[in-house]
Amino acid sequence: MKSNFRFRVGIFGATRPALLLACLLLPWNTQAAKFAPTFTVDVAPILFEKCASCHNPEGIGPMPLLDYADVKPWAGLISYKVQAREMPPWHLDKTTGIQNYKNDISLSDEQIATIVAWVESGSPEGDPSALPPMPALPNGAQWQMAELLGPPDFVVKAPPYTIAPNAQDQWWVRNTPFEGLIDGPRYVRATELKGSYPLGVKVLHHGHATLTSEDGHGGRASGPVGRQGVGKSGDLFPEGTGMLIYPSGQITWNLHYFPIAQEVRNEQAEAAVWLYPKGYKPEFETRGEQFFAADTGPGGLWAGDLLLPPHSIKSQQGVRVLDRPALITSFRPHMHMRGRAQSLEAIYPDGRSEMLARVDKYNHNWQISYKFDDDAAPLLPKGTRLIITSTWDNTGANPNNPDPRQWVVFGQRGVDEMSHLWLGITYLTDDQFERLSAERRGRLTAQNGP
Ligand code: HEC
Repeated sequence: MKSNFRFRVGIFGATRPALLLACLLLPWNTQAAKFAPTFTVDVAPILFEKCASCHNPEGIGPMPLLDYADVKPWAGLISYKVQAREMPPWHLDKTTGIQNYKNDISLSDEQIATIVAWVESGSPEGDPSALPPMPALPNGAQWQMAELLGPPDFVVKAPPYTIAPNAQDQWWVRNTPFEGLIDGPRYVRATELKGSYPLGVKVLHHGHATLTSEDGHGGRASGPVGRQGVGKSGDLFPEGTGMLIYPSGQITWNLHYFPIAQEVRNEQAEAAVWLYPKGYKPEFETRGEQFFAADTGPGGLWAGDLLLPPHSIKSQQGVRVLDRPALITSFRPHMHMRGRAQSLEAIYPDGRSEMLARVDKYNHNWQISYKFDDDAAPLLPKGTRLIITSTWDNTGANPNNPDPRQWVVFGQRGVDEMSHLWLGITYLTDDQFERLSAERRGRLTAQNGP
């Protein structure tokens, strides 16, 4: 189907003699009918693959996009959203930084051109019998990670909370005991956090379940047993990388709800954990996704120096120096409604600098974790400086800005601002760093030549 269409684009675009020939051979109408993309043949396969998982009656998308009658009234807006690369939600700057990600759901330029050409030619349906089979839709009751790893080893639940139908953001922060679920120290392979099915999955904007467990020698180990954000799925550590947890401690739930115009009673978010087999010790130890602030304020954590004047555009930078080598596996920016762009740059000890990742269409509705491909994941030597740059647009030109006349300061609400990001990070020893770098060089040389 695709290659077929590329051929047709060719006729309109580059291959002028073919077009001329086609014009001579065919009456114009037949030709337009023949070459214009149709819903059933050209557009539905794209929507089924890239949109249907959310745009279905139970998904988080505001309207289903499953058949011609669903899609037709939205055609104009769909064309706009895909050209602006706001949909599907993948808000990376395509012109800079690493472009190879495991969970890339963006459209190719060719897919965008197909949708735009279809809308420009009046969004015709085409032959109904050519419609591809309905895609398999994800079931919000199930763990996404289960497809790969089977059922989780254990599931923990937050205490119930009722979310009012029409209100501002709501937070639910509570501790629950962690007891009796494992009988000795174990390594975590994967985690996933979600609202309960069916309404919780829609009302949970983002959340963290952090386990602090006691190692039995007076020490404590702290790490996420679930982090969720709209558009973010579970976290799977690479094979051979794990997070150590102990049998007793407590889980801190920090859940941020955004009302959905209907009451959600006794919502209980839940976190699922997949473990490595008993007795297995992975070579690499991680503490999962970690917090990095783009801020120079007191204490760093809370962006205390953040101040956006009315009608202003402003950037702020934070620097973190790596005191050990590290592998960065994912990048998840976090700002609020005025947030526009956020980037992560590395300045290597030798002075070279490199843009690692940049989001230029930041949208607070989304908390996407961009997961680097294995051989693209930044492998950084000790002494690397990480520069985090956040840019806010507090002008009327920002469609998400609730009121450009306001001074904006740091705060928890979506109308206040924040500036941090979550990095999936595994710290390495010098030996591990050398070995991983050499192995990667070997693989890339084998692939691309020296
Ligand atoms: C990961 C889930 C997800 C995927 C995948 C997704 N959408 Fe969406 N879409 C949403 C959500 C949630 C919203 C509302 C929030 C927003 O606009 O960001 C939305 C909003 C939209 C809107 C605007 C609706 C309005 O009333 O403003 C359009 C149009 C749209 N999506 C089209 C698409 C198309 C076309 C695709 C595939 C090419 C797609 N979406 C893929 C979840 C998704």
